[in-house]
Amino acid sequence: MEFLGLLFSLLALALQVWAIGQPASLAFSETEGGLKLAGAGSAPTIVIDSKDWPGVTRAGNDLANDFGLVTGTKGKTVTSFSGLSNTPVIIAGTVGKSPLIDSLVSDGKIDVSSIKGKWESFITKIVENPADGVSSAFVLAGSDKRGTIYALYDISEQIGVSPWYWWADVPPKKKTAIYALPSTKIQGSPSVKYRGIFLNDEQPALTNWVNANYGGKYDSRFHAKVFELLLRLRANYFWPAMWNSRFHTDDSRNGPLADEMGIAMGTSHTEPMARADKEKVKPWDWKSNQNNLKRYMQDGATRSKNWEVVWTLGMRGDGDTASPTLDANTLVDVINFQQGILKSTLSVSELKDVPMMWCVYKEVGGYYQAGMKVPEDVTILWSDDNSGNIQRLPISSEVNRSGGAGVYYHFDYVGDPRNYKWINSIQLSKTWQQMHLAWQRNAAQIWIVNVGDLKPLELPISHFLDMAYDMSQFTSPTSTDSWLKAWATREFGPEVAEGTAETMATYGKLIIRRKYELLNLNFPYTTTYYDEAEKVIDEWAALENTAQTLYNSLDKDTQIAFFEMVLHPIMAGRVVQYCYINAARNAAYANQKRMSANTLADGVRNMYAQDKVIQQRYHGLLNGKWNHMMDQLHFGYTYWQDPGAAYPGTMPSVRTISTTAPSTGILGVSVQNDAASVPGGTTPTLLGLNPYTPENRTIDIYARGSGSMDFTITSSESYIRVLPFSGTISYPSGTSDIRARIRVDWSAAPSGSSTASITIKPKTGSEVKLNLPLNSFAVPEDFKGYVESNGAVAIEMQHFTRKEGGGGGSSVEIIPNYGRTDSGLTFMPITAGTQTVATAPKAVYAFYSVSTASNAKISLYLPPSFNVAPSTPLKLAVGLDSAGPTTITPVPSHTLGSMPSGWSESVINGARVVSANLGRVEPGRHELSVWLLEPGTVVHRIVIDLGGVKSSYLGPWESGKVGF
Ligand SMILES: *[C@@H]1O[C@H](CO)[C@@H](O)[C@H](O)[C@H]1NC(C)=O
Ligand SMILES: *[C@@H]1O[C@H](CO)[C@@H](O)[C@H](O)[C@H]1NC(C)=O
Repeated sequence: MEFLGLLFSLLALALQVWAIGQPASLAFSETEGGLKLAGAGSAPTIVIDSKDWPGVTRAGNDLANDFGLVTGTKGKTVTSFSGLSNTPVIIAGTVGKSPLIDSLVSDGKIDVSSIKGKWESFITKIVENPADGVSSAFVLAGSDKRGTIYALYDISEQIGVSPWYWWADVPPKKKTAIYALPSTKIQGSPSVKYRGIFLNDEQPALTNWVNANYGGKYDSRFHAKVFELLLRLRANYFWPAMWNSRFHTDDSRNGPLADEMGIAMGTSHTEPMARADKEKVKPWDWKSNQNNLKRYMQDGATRSKNWEVVWTLGMRGDGDTASPTLDANTLVDVINFQQGILKSTLSVSELKDVPMMWCVYKEVGGYYQAGMKVPEDVTILWSDDNSGNIQRLPISSEVNRSGGAGVYYHFDYVGDPRNYKWINSIQLSKTWQQMHLAWQRNAAQIWIVNVGDLKPLELPISHFLDMAYDMSQFTSPTSTDSWLKAWATREFGPEVAEGTAETMATYGKLIIRRKYELLNLNFPYTTTYYDEAEKVIDEWAALENTAQTLYNSLDKDTQIAFFEMVLHPIMAGRVVQYCYINAARNAAYANQKRMSANTLADGVRNMYAQDKVIQQRYHGLLNGKWNHMMDQLHFGYTYWQDPGAAYPGTMPSVRTISTTAPSTGILGVSVQNDAASVPGGTTPTLLGLNPYTPENRTIDIYARGSGSMDFTITSSESYIRVLPFSGTISYPSGTSDIRARIRVDWSAAPSGSSTASITIKPKTGSEVKLNLPLNSFAVPEDFKGYVESNGAVAIEMQHFTRKEGGGGGSSVEIIPNYGRTDSGLTFMPITAGTQTVATAPKAVYAFYSVSTASNAKISLYLPPSFNVAPSTPLKLAVGLDSAGPTTITPVPSHTLGSMPSGWSESVINGARVVSANLGRVEPGRHELSVWLLEPGTVVHRIVIDLGGVKSSYLGPWESGKVGF
C-alpha cells in the first residue's frame, strides 16, 4: 500500500510537471513493473528501422542527445537489434513504415489498433522479449511520421528537456534515474489538424539576428532550429518569413529539410501556390499578365510537388493589398486554375487528400460576402482583425464543407491602428476565449498564428499550440490559469510555478489595457480621477517586484530563461508605461505649479535611459546569443507605422517648471478628483467618504517653488484623524510632497450625512479649509453585495451574489484574469446555442445605494470581439430589480471585409463600452441581473452611474463589498 501511495504521488507529480497536461509514461525512481531507461552512466539505445522516415531518425537522435542533457550520459540510435547487450532499449517506429514495428505487431507483441490509420497518434508501452537477446524494451509506435516524432519528443519533454531548451534557454532538469512506467499510453489525434506559426514582420529584430548568425539568409540551419522547436511543441505547419526572403531559393535545402523533418509547408495569404511574395512576376495582375501568373503558379506546384504542403490558393494584390482587377468571379477562376494545376502536377484525379486553404483576409472577405463560391474541398481560413478578435467562424451552412475551416490569428502585427512587434503583449485568457470558440464552431482544420520575430512570444506560442494539440485540456474558462502553472513548472520548476503563473496572468491584464505603441494616442489614464494613473504605475511596479523576487530565488541557469520569458517583458514594459504615465503626471503637476513635476521629469528621463540598459542586458545574454532580438523601437509612434527614429524612439516630452513660487504662496494643496491647486485656484471639496468607500482619502501638500514651509493639519471633528498632522515641505532639498491620509472612526461619527472640515495651515500665508462630506450608515446585516460610494457602483464580474442556469444546460462562468481589471463573465457551454431572455443563464449582482438617482446609467465593458456569425450576433441583457430586461447587441453588424463601427476605438482600448439607461433608482437594496444570450459574449466590468461617475479609462475603484 505504501508503495502504491508513492506511485500515485509520483504520477500526480508527473502530471503536473511534464508534457503539459498529458499523461505521464515515465517515473524518476524505481517503479514496480517499470523499465529502467537511464541512470548514472547508463543511457538507452534507440532502435529505429532504417526504412522509417528520416525525420523519425532525426528526432530519435535528438532524444538520445536529450538523455545526455539530463543524466550526463548520451543515448544513441541504431538501426537493428544486433549487439545490444546490457543497455536499456527504446524501439521507435511508424506503423506501416518501420518493419521493426510491423513485426512486433504481427508477432502480437504490441496492439496498435487504437492508433492505426489515425492522424499523428502514438502508443507507448513496455514490451517483453521484443527481439532475441533483448529482454524488455520501451516501444514507441506512431500512426504516421509525426505520430512517431511526437512520441519521441514527448519522452524528451517528460525527462526534463523543454521544447524551449534552445530558443529560450530553459535548462534541462537533471535526473539520476529514468524509468518507463508499466502503463500503456495512447495519444490520440490532435484537436486541430494543421497547427503552426508564421514568421512575419521580421525586420528589424529577427532579420538582424539571422544576418548576424546565419550569414544574411533564412537558411536551412536556421530552419532546422525552427522546425525542431515546432515539432517539440507538437506543431506541424509553417509559413516562412517573406518580407525580404524566398524560402525555396534562399537555400535550396529549405524545402527538402521541411519535408524530411516533418513540417507541412504553407505560405501566407498573399503567396499562392507555395511561392514567395518576393518571387512574384510583375505586373502582379491576373487580367493583364495572366500567362505569366499562370506559369508562376505552375512552377510553384512543380517545385514542391514531392513535399508535404498545405497549398495556399486564391490571390491578393501586391504587398498585402487588394488587387484592383480582381473580383469574386475572377477569383473563382484563379482557384479553379490552381486546383487544375494541382491535379495534373500531383497526378491525382481528385483533391480530397490534398490540403488546400483559402484565407479570408482583409478585402478577400468582401468577395466571400458577395457570394463567391469556394470549392468545398478548400479549407476556409478565417482571420482575426489582426488584433486577436476573430472576425467570422463557420455558420451552419458551412460546417459540413469537406475542407473545413481554420483560423489565422495574430500575436504581432504591422498595420492599423498601430504596429505591435516589440515584445509579448498578449492576454492568454483572451486567446483562450477566442480559440475555444473557434474550436467549438468547427474551425479546427488549420490554426496558424503570426508570431513576428518568434523570440519574444514564447509564452503565447506555447499556449496557442498546446490548445491546438489538445483542446480537451482547455474546455474550462479556468484552463488558462492551470495551463500557465503547468507551463511555469516545466520551464522554471514547481517552487515558482504558482507565483509565475499569477505574474503572467496579471501581466495579461495590464497589457490588454493599451499596447505600448498606443500609449501616446489620446493618453488613456486620467491623472485627476480615481488615482488612476498612479494606480496603474503602482500595479506595474508591484508586478516587477514580484517577478524580480521570483527571479532572485532561481538558480543562475534558470534565471536566464525566466528573464527572457517573464522578467524582461515586465521590466521593459514597465519602463514604457512609467515614461508615458509619468509624463502625463508631469504635465498635470506642472499645471499645479507642483515642483515635483521636475522630479517626475527627471524620473522619465532616467527610465527612458533604462530602456537601452535593459535592451543591452537582453542582448548580452549568453555572450550575445540573442543580440538584435530587441532591436525594435517602441516609443514615439505617431501613426500605424514605425516612427523611423533611432532606438528606442522619441521620449515622451516633459516640462521643467521654474522654481519661483506663485504670489499665493509656496505651499500648495491638491486633492483627489480635482486638478486645482490651492491657495490660488477654486477650493475643491474633498470627495465623500462612507464606511464602505473602497479607496483611501488623501490630501497632497507640496512645494510650489524653492524654499520650505512648515504646516499643520487640523480636523473639525475628533473622529477624523489626518496623518501626518504637521510637516515641512521643501524644495529642492528635503521633502517636496507630503500625502496626508484621512481616517474616520465610524463608530464615533454621527449617523447619516454630515460635513467635516480639514484645515491645512502654513506657517505663513493663507490656510486652506477643505470640506469633507461624510455619510455614516450600515447596510442591513443580511446584505451581501456592493455598496455605492460617491454615486458609483463598480462591479468586477467574479463577485456576483448568485447565478442561474439557462436553456440547453447553459450557465454563466467566470474567466479569471480576463479583461483590463479582473475577470470575465461568459456563456458556457458554447454548444448550448443562442438563448432568449426567458431561457438565458444569468448572474445577479446585488448593490446597496444611498443616492437617489433620477437617471441612472449602466456601462458594460466588453472585449473588442466580433459577431462571428452574422445572424446570431453577440447579445446580452441587463435588468434592474423587477424592471424588464434591456437587450443589448453590443457589436454593430458589419460586412466581411470591413470592420464594425467603433472597431478601432475598441481595439485600441482593449474594450468596447456600451451603455444603457436604468431610469430612476431609489436608495436601498438592488439587484442587477446580467443575462448572456449568445455564446461567445463576455463582459469584463460593469459601472453603474448613480450620478457621480467621473470620466476615466478603467472606471472607478471596485466598490466596497460586504458578505464576500
Ligand atoms: C452536418 O453533418 C452532420 C452529420 O452528418 C449532420 O447531423 C448535420 O445536420 C449537418 N449540418 C448541416 C447544417 O447540414
Ligand atoms: C488605505 O490605507 C491603508 C493604510 O495605509 C492601506 O493598508 C490600504 O491598503 C489602503 N487602501 C488602498 C485601497 O490603497
